[in-house]
Amino acid sequence: MSYEKAVKISGLIKTFNKKEVIRNCNMNVPKGRVYGLLGVNGAGKTTILKMIMGLLSPTAGNIEIFGQDIQKNKNNILKNIGSVIETPIFYEHLSAKENLEIHLSYMGIQNLDIKNTLNLVGLHDIDYQPVSEFSLGMRQRLGIARAIIHKPKLLILDEPINGLDPVGIREIRELFLNLVKDHDMTIIVSSHILSEIEHIADVIGIVENGSVIEELDLFTIEKDFKDGLEEYFFNIVNGGMKKYV
Ligand SMILES: Nc1ncnc2c1ncn2[C@@H]1O[C@H](COP(=O)(O)OP(=O)(O)OP(=O)(O)O)[C@@H](O)[C@H]1O
Ligand SMILES: [Mg+2]
Repeated sequence: MSYEKAVKISGLIKTFNKKEVIRNCNMNVPKGRVYGLLGVNGAGKTTILKMIMGLLSPTAGNIEIFGQDIQKNKNNILKNIGSVIETPIFYEHLSAKENLEIHLSYMGIQNLDIKNTLNLVGLHDIDYQPVSEFSLGMRQRLGIARAIIHKPKLLILDEPINGLDPVGIREIRELFLNLVKDHDMTIIVSSHILSEIEHIADVIGIVENGSVIEELDLFTIEKDFKDGLEEYFFNIVNGGMKKYV
């Protein structure tokens, strides 16, 4: 019996101005796990993530989220997704709380605990401060708050620890792990910081030249590679070994 999948991508293609940047990409994200997406700059990670969350339409191929085709059930599926993609955009003159209020009213959701969510991401005592005065790390935390406030079933994080200090990195890592444990969330996270992925991911997907060329359990990687994820990653991107999925 196959395990339950949160995301199943098959034959995905995306072209921009006739240039194919995602090519025949397949990807399988098991439910309730943390999937780390790795790849060099320009490999295609953000483009794949944007298609999973319906921000870009595929040129060809299929994306199923919890068994439903994203193209056919977009509105329904999007309610169950939270995301932090690239630099989050906010209403600069408004506070963190006001930004979250606007977000929730836009999504048609009421009665969620904004204060608790801000506490979870470590944004305390900033009641009236406009976002324009936030540091990079504070913005990132607010972006994460916006992504998790409705307790989505699937959380998509593109470089989520960008700008966080070491304390923040640890706090946010624990938050993500708790969300998986307590809310049965599935997380797809991309990062260039291999040690960070090693801390939180269960499954690794390597993106090269627009497709996921290998998917493996972190457990297996750590068993087979003495120096762990870093050794595995360099082995793959240097063309040391390739198994197409
Ligand atoms: N809107 C766009 N128009 C044209 N080309 C694009 C567009 N978005 C992305 N690309 C191209 O698609 C390829 C993949 O880009 P993408 O942003 O997905 O890479 P990435 O793996 O996220 O890289 P990074 O690690 O730098 O974030 C790149 O060659 C990029 O130039
Ligand atoms: Mg990117």
